[in-house]
Amino acid sequence: MLGLSERGKKRLAYGFWRFTENQVDEAIAMIALVRENGIDHLDTADVYGGASGFGGAEKLLGAVRAKAPRLLDGAVIATKAGCEPGAPYNSSPAYLKAACEASLKRLNMSRIDLFYIHRPDLLAHPADVAGALDDLVTAGKIASVGVSNYTVAEVEALTRYLKAPIRAHQIEFSAGHVTPLFDGTLDQAMKKNLAVAAWSPLARGGLGDGGPMELAKVRATLATLAAKFGVPVNALAIAFLSTHPASVTPILGTTNSARARECLDGLKLTLTRRDWYDIVEAACGRRMP
Ligand SMILES: NC(=O)c1ccc[n+]([C@@H]2O[C@H](COP(=O)([O-])OP(=O)(O)OC[C@H]3O[C@@H](n4cnc5c(N)ncnc54)[C@H](OP(=O)(O)O)[C@@H]3O)[C@@H](O)[C@H]2O)c1
Repeated sequence: MLGLSERGKKRLAYGFWRFTENQVDEAIAMIALVRENGIDHLDTADVYGGASGFGGAEKLLGAVRAKAPRLLDGAVIATKAGCEPGAPYNSSPAYLKAACEASLKRLNMSRIDLFYIHRPDLLAHPADVAGALDDLVTAGKIASVGVSNYTVAEVEALTRYLKAPIRAHQIEFSAGHVTPLFDGTLDQAMKKNLAVAAWSPLARGGLGDGGPMELAKVRATLATLAAKFGVPVNALAIAFLSTHPASVTPILGTTNSARARECLDGLKLTLTRRDWYDIVEAACGRRMP
């Protein structure tokens, strides 16, 4: 159980990209809010931490565990490695194993529930990446393996060598970024039964007032549908993702509790095919053929 969506069960996750190490009280308040509302999957990465630097967001979760241990009972913690400051990517076995050990210490955990390769390292042979991940599973350091921002071919190549199953693929997917609908990513996830976690589900604020020009049509379509349903645009943005048959889990990143509640409401909406395709057509800038 990863706390991610499955067929017939729509879920959300919460991510800590936008938190710094010292925001312990803010993190506790947000985790309490999302957990009360059924979110059990918490996403972080070794590189997250903003101004507090590399490792800051993982240390934050470690501090949350120390200050409010019950809050994380039953929560699934996912983290990522493979982005090396300055490199920019490193999925060599030595780097991944050291990164995992460092994450365990910062998170104050003995085993990571879901360990993602954050971004593909073009200089790493998939057999070597697979060997490192399998070693980490065998050693009990990680429970499950995920990948993030992989192409379809990169998932296939890693699968060829990996003994453990790839459980999840974390991708950019939103009403403002619909590429995964057409590049085979979601089809591959359904074929291989990979959980799909969608990062930046609100297009980093681009779906709200003041978003970029290129998303104007998407914003207008979401606003029309939001008026039809009588809900905020953020709820529509989440409903768009959770309607896809790949059982997508949007990873919330808002630090605003009102916006988080609006997103939670999105899981309750049922879009018609016409509603959903209106958003796709606005995102693509053309009618479906
Ligand atoms: N695997 C990867 O490569 C990768 C990459 C990026 C992110 N992630 C994961 O995905 C999570 C979510 O990503 P995200 O934070 O980019 O998600 P997001 O929900 O698309 O963006 C949230 C950001 O947009 C702002 N925002 C949303 N609606 C707005 C509006 N109407 N007006 C103004 N600002 C608005 C939020 O501000 P407020 O906080 O004020 O609401 C916040 O700064 C991250 O925490 C991380 O766990 C993974």
